[in-house]
Amino acid sequence: MVGVGQLGSYVASDIIAMIDATRDVVVLADGQVAVLRPEEVEFFDAAGNPVQPAITHIDWDVDTAEKGGYPDFMLKEIHEQPRVIRDTLAGRLEGGSISIDELDMSAEELHLVDRVYIIACGTSYHAGLIAKNLIEAWARIPCEVEVASEFRYRDPIITPTTLVVAVSQSGETADTLAAIRDARVKGAKVFGITNVVGSPVARESDGVIYTKANKEIAVASTKSFLGQVVSLTLLALLLGQSHGTLTTGQIKLLFSELADTAEQVERILADDTAIRKAAHACVNATSALFIGRGMGSAISYEGALKLKEISYLHAEAYAAGEMKHGPIALIDEGFPVIAIATRGPVYDKVVSNLQESRARGALIVAIATEGDEEIKRHADHVIYIPKVRDAFSPITASVPLQMFARCIALERGCDVDQPRNLAKSVTVE
Ligand code: G6P
Repeated sequence: MVGVGQLGSYVASDIIAMIDATRDVVVLADGQVAVLRPEEVEFFDAAGNPVQPAITHIDWDVDTAEKGGYPDFMLKEIHEQPRVIRDTLAGRLEGGSISIDELDMSAEELHLVDRVYIIACGTSYHAGLIAKNLIEAWARIPCEVEVASEFRYRDPIITPTTLVVAVSQSGETADTLAAIRDARVKGAKVFGITNVVGSPVARESDGVIYTKANKEIAVASTKSFLGQVVSLTLLALLLGQSHGTLTTGQIKLLFSELADTAEQVERILADDTAIRKAAHACVNATSALFIGRGMGSAISYEGALKLKEISYLHAEAYAAGEMKHGPIALIDEGFPVIAIATRGPVYDKVVSNLQESRARGALIVAIATEGDEEIKRHADHVIYIPKVRDAFSPITASVPLQMFARCIALERGCDVDQPRNLAKSVTVE
């Protein structure tokens, strides 16, 4: 990118490198050329014709690029999550209606949407798994979630009323970009959900929602993930509104409960004692299983990914109902099973899965709802989180899982910000 400043022009691969010098940047498109002179910058397309690309003003602080007193970026970013929730929701409810103007779709066009595909990679894919539940429940539209590297090589059913939602923190993941291009050629409308202003995903989508996470430095995504989940929740509310499947009263109530999660996450962050104890108990394991049902199953995938990314401990996630079809064979004395056991429609089912695991010697860590005393009978460690509606449990339940993974990684001597073999942006296939 090219920085356009008062005292000169700059070129760098990342905004952070030049944010002290300028906040006005141009993100070059593929094939574009910039000629920098002390007093001016000129831009040309690949054929040599002069072009005037848009200048983007960066409004996040220099502090964002520093640890701000935290021992690592991951912890700093975990603690920024209440702010991310608040900023992502700011201005989105106007007079009882959800407003996402950037989508650039009329209420009628939205009303016609009859199929949604969410395409993404890694953590962003898990945000999609959560959103599928919300879109189907609130808007009654079939929604499929697919990893972009599979979607791009399939022949998915796309019609003019298909909405493709591409989720990418960096906005430049090669597979996600290829999937966007493919979907547009096939006639779908594509919305991007990204954290990076002016990124290729933003530029190549028909509309874009920016998550308000600001720059994320730690390779393992935390605050961007929460920003994606909140943005996708807004999209699900919008689709429920446009399809007439949610009333104004329901939208107001859901929005207000969604906004309350910021404070609930703050409460979780305020005391990590139980999380540290549970992590310490698992630190010498060679493998761990994350289980849940419904929303809990989607959350468990992200919990397992976080753990394996930064601690190099093998972790697998399973829909708890599938335990008896294979994974239960893994369980013996002291095998960690981390269960999303919050109070919700499938609570009793999860408890019976815990009993099955415990009977075979598993070490159970349960993420449970404050006030649930019964769960203590079925778990070795209980991490309590505030009570929220099941739809919003991913927002609260994923936070202790991030902290759990970080504690284990630190105890195992790993670099939580820069795990081996992983890159923050994967711009090649
Ligand atoms: C890499 C990162 C992950 C991220 C994934 C997708 O693998 O290490 O943290 O979830 O890419 O990235 P995206 O930028 O498209 O969300």
